[in-house]
Amino acid sequence: MTAPQTLDNPLFARIWTYLSSHETDWLRDRRRENLAGLTGRVLEVGAGTGSNFAFYPDTVAEVVAPEPESRLRDIAEVSAASAPVPVTVVASTVEALDAAEPFDAIVCSLVLCSVDRPEDVLRQLFTLLKPGGELRYFEHVASGGARGGLQRLADATFWPRLFGNCHTHRNIEQMITDAGFVVGASRRGHQFPAWAPVPVSEFALGSAGRPA
Ligand SMILES: C[S@@+](CC[C@H](N)C(=O)[O-])C[C@H]1O[C@@H](n2cnc3c(N)ncnc32)[C@H](O)[C@@H]1O
Repeated sequence: MTAPQTLDNPLFARIWTYLSSHETDWLRDRRRENLAGLTGRVLEVGAGTGSNFAFYPDTVAEVVAPEPESRLRDIAEVSAASAPVPVTVVASTVEALDAAEPFDAIVCSLVLCSVDRPEDVLRQLFTLLKPGGELRYFEHVASGGARGGLQRLADATFWPRLFGNCHTHRNIEQMITDAGFVVGASRRGHQFPAWAPVPVSEFALGSAGRPA
């Protein structure tokens, strides 16, 4: 199946515009952490409203940021204009992205839950990364136990419809490894207390390389 070039999801665009304009310090710190030390040309997959842009270190030469939802892209373009590094926002899904040359690094944050075929996207990202390059990720991941059950229930019912195709019960790091990346530094944590009945709490934040 050919991936669409753009997405049209007005409800999610409204929800994400609200959420991304009310981010906590905790979340902003994770974004900063995910981008620390990056250099060269960077591909940021599904930039949303551009919440990461302010946190790129000045060692980054250029960020190419495909965002397929026009309402979010409009806001991302405003964020790009005040970013500390040059950012080009592109009207495209990552699957349909026309990239002339591979990137030094690729950034995924809160996006591998939302793409239709994460295994295919990760294989594509592998080819879009230079040998020796780095995939940085900050992603919600599948939990075990009661939260895992809650995630499966949410994924089968309302969650993807409300949150732009977000699937909470994905084994993202396993998929990263299966695509050929070698996971290096990586850590798990929770965004919310254990008692909070929220499907998206456990996250993985890490770096995976394409072997040289
Ligand atoms: C939950 S938002 C996260 C946005 C941003 N990455 C962040 O960290 O704030 C998920 C984003 O992925 C985008 N998206 C969904 N499918 C995509 C695809 N196939 N290619 C690129 N972006 C996609 C959505 O439009 C949305 O902006």
